[in-house]
Order: sequence, then structure tokens, then C-alpha cells
Amino acid sequence: MSKVYICTAIPYVNGDPHIGHAMDYLLADTFARFCRLNGDDVKFQVGTDEHGNKVFSTALKKGVSVAEYAKQNSQKFLDFIQKLNISYTDFIRTTDEGHVARCQKIWQKLSPHIYAGNYDGWYCDGCEGFITQKEYDENHGICPDHQKPYQRLTEKNYYLRIADFRADIAKAIESDNFRILPEFRKQEVLKLLEDTPDISISRPRGKLSWGVSVPGDDDQVMYVWLDALSNYITVLGYPDRDISDFWPATAQFVGKDILRFHTITWPAILLGLGLPLPENIVSHGHVLLNSKKMSKSLGNVVDPLEVIEHHGIEAFRYYFLRHIDTFTDSDFTWEKFDEAYNNELANDLGNLIQRLATMCHKNDIHGQELNIELDEQYLSLMGSYEFSKAFDQIWLKIQQINKNIDVSKPWELAKSGDSEKLNTVLQEMVHNLLSVGKYLEPFLPDTAAKIEDIFGTQETITAPSEPLFPKNRQ
Ligand code: MSP
Repeated sequence: MSKVYICTAIPYVNGDPHIGHAMDYLLADTFARFCRLNGDDVKFQVGTDEHGNKVFSTALKKGVSVAEYAKQNSQKFLDFIQKLNISYTDFIRTTDEGHVARCQKIWQKLSPHIYAGNYDGWYCDGCEGFITQKEYDENHGICPDHQKPYQRLTEKNYYLRIADFRADIAKAIESDNFRILPEFRKQEVLKLLEDTPDISISRPRGKLSWGVSVPGDDDQVMYVWLDALSNYITVLGYPDRDISDFWPATAQFVGKDILRFHTITWPAILLGLGLPLPENIVSHGHVLLNSKKMSKSLGNVVDPLEVIEHHGIEAFRYYFLRHIDTFTDSDFTWEKFDEAYNNELANDLGNLIQRLATMCHKNDIHGQELNIELDEQYLSLMGSYEFSKAFDQIWLKIQQINKNIDVSKPWELAKSGDSEKLNTVLQEMVHNLLSVGKYLEPFLPDTAAKIEDIFGTQETITAPSEPLFPKNRQ
């Protein structure tokens, strides 16, 4: 049994969760469940990023206290995570006292690599990011993700000396000791790393009071990304506890828009602390709405609760894990969602379960206990985080069972009285469906459990009183 630590990006709490936020959770959860299927001991972090300008200014606009606003929205994210059936083990808020105190200790440990300086350059509130002149010029002064002009900042900042770590980060990336997925993002990151200047890691309190105080300088507050990235280790108890049983993380799941923070700032912090780098940074694409990134700042968000109400949580997991490609951008539309539900979940899988269970019941076929070895292709796709591809392979197996039913026509065997053959044919189908259930476990845990309930006990198989995926659900 190996120890596996899985991390997700922690969302800002400047609004409600939207369907794009589901991706980190779903991918990480699929991996966590897959690891458990392999017998691993899994620790799985989720949380909320509550400091910074973005959260502060939204609370101000709404006329509520920022602490209260952050608390309410953090709760909404936690509710959302639970609704998605995410098998997390730890939930962290960056306003937790323990986190704040640990961040201050982290700052002190990094002090040999920190110096005071003056920042005169650009900032994007939406990204909570310092922007280089080169990026400013390439984007003509407007953030492509948030469609807002960059702000000019002239202020005192503390800096983390990136030159102390640049060569080691590059080496770790090139050697895949610190692996960036998908592979095509690796070169982008290496190029960016070459051009990255020292990293600002504080803001003057006068401009931003909502954050962790810099130890020894009351006029400065930590830059939100320093505080936020640290959550991955403070949640394990660093630096108060030895974290070596779960650190380094096996996999960190992040959106492509925040890859740079996780592949440059984050490893610089870790190297400064003398900690090993995570094994894999898995960066997923964006969920688009009419080919545009969905984001709170653009105001084109879809409410995940509405989507879940439409066809249920398993349908939600199904759509986002299979039809939103793991690594590239994909569109969400209600039409595609309904189509996938009706044609695939309800027809291919729901009907299959119902039909097979009914035939088994009529012919007094008993369930089986199944012990299978997961096949190589599945293990390899899941182990390389190719979840949507692995899901496609499972679907082929489902379609194959449907084809087998059509070809072997059990109802004709029943009519002809060849009960031995009928028995063999149905038993084999039950076996195949149970094995599909195992493969489905990381993706659709409730459906997998139902398949096991229906076909996995030694009693006569009984069809569920209503279909798993009713067609008329709207
Ligand atoms: N607070 C930072 C993360 C700090 S991690 C130490 C942040 N928050 S966020 O709310 O903007 O985004 C949280 C996660 O949701 C990120 O991984 C981001 O990429 C992801 N997504 C936000 N919108 C998305 C889509 N439309 N589609 C897919 N993922 C998206 O960044």
C-alpha cells in the first residue's frame, strides 16, 4: 500500500461556485478513487482561498464584512464539493488560524531568499498576478482571461529571489522529477521560467489589508499566492509537524490559467524550504460556454446546482469526466448534456442494467462475487491521468455487452428451452457488467455501487423498481 497525496487548487471566495470549478475536484476525485481501488492510502486536500484584493473588493461592493463574506462563500464551496460526491479527506480555509500562523513561519524560513525592493509595474486583480512588461505588451494592456486593463502599481514589496532556484526548477521539469502534464505545456513553462523575474511576495498594507501579516513588518501583508500555495503543506501541519509521510504530493490538479504559479512560484517556495517538489502537476483545460472561458469576472457562469438538479449528480460527473476532455478546452451546452444523458447514460447503461436484471430475474439467475484484475490499458490511461480516454474505453465495453445481447438473443434461448446455454450466456453478461462496474467506480461511484448491489450478491438478481437514469427527468 503506498501513501498518495492529492491536491486541488483552492478557489477564491469572491462568488458562488460555477461549473468550471468542478473540474479540479472531479479529476482529483477520480484519481483518488482509482488509487483506493489499487489499495493506496489516500490523503486528499480541498479548500478555499480567502485573502487578496479580489475577495476584499467584492465584499466591499456588497457592503458586507469581508470575514463574513468569505465564510459564507467558503461554505458554499464546501457544500458544492460534498454535492459532487468528492472523497476528500481535508478541507482548509486560508483564513484558518493554524494556516495563518504556519504561513508566517514559512516566511521566516524563506528569509535567506527574501529581500525588500520597489515594484513599479503591472498587476491583474483578476489573476491576482504581477504582470511583466512583455506580457503587458503581448496582451495590449488587457488581461485575456478577465478582459480588464492591467493596473499600474508603484509600491514597496518583498521579493523572493528566483535566481536561487531557476536552474533547479528547470532541471526538475526537464527530468520529469517534477512532471508537468499535459506534456505540451512543459516547453511553455520552461520558456516562461527563463523570463521570470524575482517574484513579489508582499503588498503594502495600505493597499491591501486583507491578508496574512508579514512577520517583522507591520506595513506589509503577504501576497495572496504565497499564502494560498502554502495551503498544500500547512494542511499537513508544516512546519509544525513532519510531513514526509504524505509529502511530496503525488498529483496536484490545477487549471491551465494557474499553471505558472504552480510550476514557478510553488517550486521556488518549496526549494527555499528545502522540501521536495510534487511528483505531478496535472493541468486541465477550461470548460467553455459558447467557446468563451466561463468566469465570475466575465459574468457568463453556469450554476452547477442547476445542472445537477437537471439529471442528477451521476449525470453531472458523467458529462464533465467524459465529454470535457481532461487536458484541452471543451464546451458545455445544455443540448450536449441532455444528449449525453439520454443516448449514453439512459440508453447504453441504464437500459442495459434494467434489461439484463429483468432477464436474469425471469430465469432465476443468481448474482456473483467478482474478483478482477484491472486491464493494462485502463491502468495505464488512469495512471497517466488520461481520464476522459479511460472513460471512453469503459463505454466501449458497455456497448459491447449491448451488442452481445443483441447477437446472442437470450429471449430466444429461453423460448427454445436451452436453459443451460441461457444460463451460461446470462452469467457471462452479468460477469462483464460487474467488471464494468469496477472500472466505473472512480467515475460514477453511486452507479458502480448500484451495479454491485443488483448483480454482485449471491441471491436471485432483481431489477431495480425504477430505471437508474429515467428518460423523462428534466
Ligand atoms: N485561488 C486561485 C487558486 C489558488 S491554488 C493555491 C484561483 N482560484 S479560481 O477560483 O480562479 O480558480 C480555481 C480553479 O478553478 C482553478 O484551477 C481554475 O483553473 C479552475 N477554473 C476556473 N474556471 C474554470 C473553467 N471555466 N474551466 C475549468 N476550470 C476553471 O485560481
